Amino acid sequence: MGKKRPRKDSQVSEQAPDGVIFCREDLDPETRRYWNHGRTLFSKFNDGIWLTNDMFFSVTPESIASYIATYISAQGVSTIIDGFCGVGGNSIQFAKHVDKVIAIDCDPVLVSCARHNAAIYGVQDKIEFLVGDFFDLQNVYDADAVFLSPPWGGPKYLSKTIFDLVGMEPYGLYDLMKAARKLSPNVALYIPKSSDLVQLLAEAENYLDEKSELTSQELESTIPRPEPLNESESLLLSYLHINNKCKAICAFYGSLAYGADDLAVPLNPDVLVST
Ligand SMILES: C[S@@+](CC[C@H](N)C(=O)[O-])C[C@H]1O[C@@H](n2cnc3c(N)ncnc32)[C@H](O)[C@@H]1O
Repeated sequence: MGKKRPRKDSQVSEQAPDGVIFCREDLDPETRRYWNHGRTLFSKFNDGIWLTNDMFFSVTPESIASYIATYISAQGVSTIIDGFCGVGGNSIQFAKHVDKVIAIDCDPVLVSCARHNAAIYGVQDKIEFLVGDFFDLQNVYDADAVFLSPPWGGPKYLSKTIFDLVGMEPYGLYDLMKAARKLSPNVALYIPKSSDLVQLLAEAENYLDEKSELTSQELESTIPRPEPLNESESLLLSYLHINNKCKAICAFYGSLAYGADDLAVPLNPDVLVST
């Protein structure tokens, strides 16, 4: 066994569930190269953050999560659902900026990790943690927005020149967006940097076509929304970089698509954003 990471006294003292990684040697051999990324994923990594093996390549890095949260809160969001919360990479940053976060994940070990990690950041009281299937989540939360950070199928997404969002496994673009829009029309989708933009645009256009069939109540948003100049504005893409390397895209739909001016503002100097 290797050396354990240092833990501060302020750490949460409960027992870690099986699967939590405490040192490089706990990782699968092919994941060990991600160990040094720990502090990019969580600035408080050395304070006793809990991560499982797969989360070393699945967590949203903190600087990007912080940027997304800052942008979304600037759009007037006060309650947000994090539909695939993992170990809390995004939920923790949302909790720093909005009033309430509903964080759900189907893996109880990861929800334990997320709760523990939120306590390390002192934001656990602003997050309601749920173990369950996002697709079963009922519309009882009156959320202003939904954030989706679905599985991308593991690190093999990196080898794709164009990443197929419709065929993404286990959940494709259409099913994800349909489920999210049942909870709020304001959706942020975190996807690979090589995502097929034609598919994203087609999804937004399909939605605009279908929207005319929705009732006015279904269309109502809790966020004051400016009149669109044209319909294509209902999708805003931001390319998220760390150290001049593009890491991912966040696609903003609904009222979240109207803050391009906020995206241009350097809210977080570590993350360069282009639209
Ligand atoms: C890319 S990870 C999310 C990482 C998270 N954004 C973070 O920064 O910690 C995707 C997560 O989706 C969860 N998941 C997969 N299917 C799900 C479902 N149907 N409902 C809820 N969570 C699901 C997985 O357990 C995994 O934690």
